[in-house]
Amino acid sequence: MSGILQENSGEEIGVSAEKIQEYCQLVRSVMEARLGGKTPLAFTHTYGCQGNVSDSERINGMLKEMGFDFTDDPEKADFILFNTCAVREHAEDRVFGNVGALKHVKNRNPSLIIALCGCMVQRETVANKIRASYPHVNLVFGTHVISRFPELLYKTLTGGKRVFELSQADNSICENLPVRRDGSVKAWLPIMYGCDNYCTYCIVPYVRGRERSRDAANILAEARGLVEAGYKDITLLGQNVNSYAVKNSVSSDGAEWNFPKLLREIDKIEGDYVLRFMTSHPKDCTEELLDAMAECRHAAHHLHLPFQCGSNRVLKAMNRKYTREKYLDLIKTAREKMPDISLTSDIIVGFPGETYEEFRQTLDLVREVKFTSLFTFIYSPREGTPAAKLDDPVPHSEKARWMKELLDAQEAIAAERCKSMMGTRQRVLVEGVDQRDNSLFCRTSTNITVKCQGAPELVGSFVECEITSARNWILGGKIIK
Ligand code: 5AD
Ligand code: SF4
Repeated sequence: MSGILQENSGEEIGVSAEKIQEYCQLVRSVMEARLGGKTPLAFTHTYGCQGNVSDSERINGMLKEMGFDFTDDPEKADFILFNTCAVREHAEDRVFGNVGALKHVKNRNPSLIIALCGCMVQRETVANKIRASYPHVNLVFGTHVISRFPELLYKTLTGGKRVFELSQADNSICENLPVRRDGSVKAWLPIMYGCDNYCTYCIVPYVRGRERSRDAANILAEARGLVEAGYKDITLLGQNVNSYAVKNSVSSDGAEWNFPKLLREIDKIEGDYVLRFMTSHPKDCTEELLDAMAECRHAAHHLHLPFQCGSNRVLKAMNRKYTREKYLDLIKTAREKMPDISLTSDIIVGFPGETYEEFRQTLDLVREVKFTSLFTFIYSPREGTPAAKLDDPVPHSEKARWMKELLDAQEAIAAERCKSMMGTRQRVLVEGVDQRDNSLFCRTSTNITVKCQGAPELVGSFVECEITSARNWILGGKIIK
């Protein structure tokens, strides 16, 4: 096969829908012959961010086209796939542990096919380790070749040897992929792939490739489809959605695009739904975007804006390209435009060379901004990134103490906020049922969880509720209508 992944030159990109279908049907017949007509079962597991979750939804879509059904039990599976994450060492260790354990499953079922994909396997050292020490893994493919998955699985099934496809085919976008979404209420909608920011601690630009944006027409069509299908909460995804369309001319209609314009265009789609986006990089978060957020009918007043660290020296060493003052200014502007805005953030504790005094500046910033919630990480060195070469004298146990201080501070802030919401009326989306006590999991558009009593039929609808209790970061409510 040639020309499978084409350069993003504004033409049709990725494997054609026909080719994907062709290979799906080939796999379907091989599996039928192998299992004597029994429906093949797939077990797929996703590690890491929403970008990976979204990729897995496309992989599962292709598996469905190949005739697979899905199982939660690896022992029952004919095909197992792990979609991996490389952002922190801990995530990689877990994958190695779980892949190691599959050896026994494979011993019991020798015809089982085991596949690994995602960011982690895109790292050469990891791919070599799998080649050498995990012979029970049959198929390994990287982040750039997802649309070739049916072809690669066909090769694995028929070629009699292991398949490794880890090309660095950058600037490629996989369109035309069938999707099997995990839920029917919330949906992920990727608008761009890759990252060009090279924060010095981060492996993502090396494993996900250069920043590239999807054609606005394709995004709008997918968004329309989601609203028509009844999805109520749509999150636009990218490592840095604020730089949508900055790097490549993406529009098939010849028009100039940027992220605020995309948001406004999607917002024109009629329907009862909430529009979110993540992740935003503070250096590219403009007033134009905040205006669009404030004015769009469907945009949630929720901004996930990772600041990572409160010290200007550390921010510079991280190559984040903004200062603490610029970040705080941005928050001030956002709050002026949307007084009810809910802010969330990512924080790294213990970047190489960070002192306790510098960490205290992170703590101060957290206390000043009063985020709704935080994603907090202890720095994890990633081989091949500039930060991994820096001296890192502070022991892990000390960083863990800093982390505890940060979590305690945030818990107090979240509890305070929850208490202040007592007695208020909130419009929430009913997202699901808590199997433990049959209560409903609901969410405000500002991304706060509210648990209510109510009929399971309400899942997927917006309801009004009154907040009647407040635990640390979860609210209890009573449905009014
Ligand atoms: N160590 C710890 N946290 C990291 N992140 C990215 N790289 C690392 C690393 N090497 C965090 C950042 C980013 C989030 C997705 O993961 O906070 O925003
Ligand atoms: Fe990593 Fe920075 Fe890109 Fe986010 S913006 S993916 S932290 S390099």
